[in-house]
Amino acid sequence: MALTGKRVLLIISGGIAAYKSLDLIRRLRERGASVRPVMTDGAQKFITPLAVGALAADHVFTELFSREDEQDVGHIRLARDCDIVVIAPATASLLAKMAHGLADDLASTILLATDRPILTAPAMNPKMWDNAATRRNIATLQTDGVSFVGPAKGEMAERGEAGTGRMAEVLDIVAAIELHFDEKPKPLAGRSAIVTSGPTHEPIDPVRYIANRSSGKQGHAIAAALRDLGAKVTLVSGPVTIPDPHGVNTIHVERAEEMMQAVMAALPADIAIMVAAVADWRVASASDQKIKKQPGQSIPTLALAENPDILSTVGHHKLRPKIVIGFAAETQDIEKNGRAKLERKGADLIVANDVSPATGVMGGARNQVKLIGHDGVEAWPDLDKDEVAARLAALVAERLKP
Ligand code: CTP
Repeated sequence: MALTGKRVLLIISGGIAAYKSLDLIRRLRERGASVRPVMTDGAQKFITPLAVGALAADHVFTELFSREDEQDVGHIRLARDCDIVVIAPATASLLAKMAHGLADDLASTILLATDRPILTAPAMNPKMWDNAATRRNIATLQTDGVSFVGPAKGEMAERGEAGTGRMAEVLDIVAAIELHFDEKPKPLAGRSAIVTSGPTHEPIDPVRYIANRSSGKQGHAIAAALRDLGAKVTLVSGPVTIPDPHGVNTIHVERAEEMMQAVMAALPADIAIMVAAVADWRVASASDQKIKKQPGQSIPTLALAENPDILSTVGHHKLRPKIVIGFAAETQDIEKNGRAKLERKGADLIVANDVSPATGVMGGARNQVKLIGHDGVEAWPDLDKDEVAARLAALVAERLKP
């Protein structure tokens, strides 16, 4: 059976779709899984712990401060003694709590304490699903590595309401769980990768610095996509406001020279993808003290020194990774400039994009790139940065195939 011996911790939260989780329990057990149920207060308004416990053939956990349950199992063990945590249905409220790390009942405490993979099957009114707050929470959870199945489109329990928000069908949830345990070898398993991301900050004095508009979104997405294919990833990130990708070794740096050191320390590796917008120049001698305006004195000029080129150093290194990819941020002559960088920096591929302000690429969610290789150019359509990342990771896996 597909799920033999798998231990599912099933969190049921309060929505009309909770009645479907009774069927979910049955289907999971049919396939050989054991199901340990946790119900929120809301869930118990829709279905009873008695029904859930009977189908699961296990104790139903409902209280955070239950003396008996804490003595027997305890919420930390509950959070860890399973192979996967499934939330079905997952309400907007429970997703919001999870996105913010709130732990004020048993379900949310388990979600904060668990180190197991989490699969959620959201169910809510379409207006709630479309709400900007829910959008933000879902985006946060996705970056945190939480998986989703559904919601589906269709009629709601409320009459006359339709849209996206119905919980995924039970068999689709079962399929998502099976897919999770599908032990097909991942194409980059056993491979190591170094990714740089974000801008660098080059200090002028203790309070001022030279920087650029890079957000780190593309580099972080690439690190996550390589991780998804099984690679062991070191992400060297300049100062960004986005979270570290889950399951990736993230090293935070400020200056180009620090980024260089961190990248060198991460060698050898099979893959290097240099996405960071590294400052080409640093201030030759940054001041230890804040530079003050002196009445009558002339305006200071900044003498710059060239920063090390990290991509080029990696591309020509004796420990050169098997595949070295650079980015080229251009505002004109994209292909010509990209090709020149490919040669000069010893890369196998340059991902060139137009970063003119009108494109909104810098800081935005989408990217339109051209792949410049030694054997030609391939133009990709305008894509979400996550999609660019997924395609690039797949291409790397393809090239590294034995
Ligand atoms: N890069 C790097 N170290 C630097 C400068 C750039 O590793 N000091 C990498 C970037 O991460 C990117 C590629 O080189 O993968 C190209 O970056 P880009 O800024 O487009 O190129 P530059 O060499 O800085 O050329 P220019 O600014 O003249 O376009």
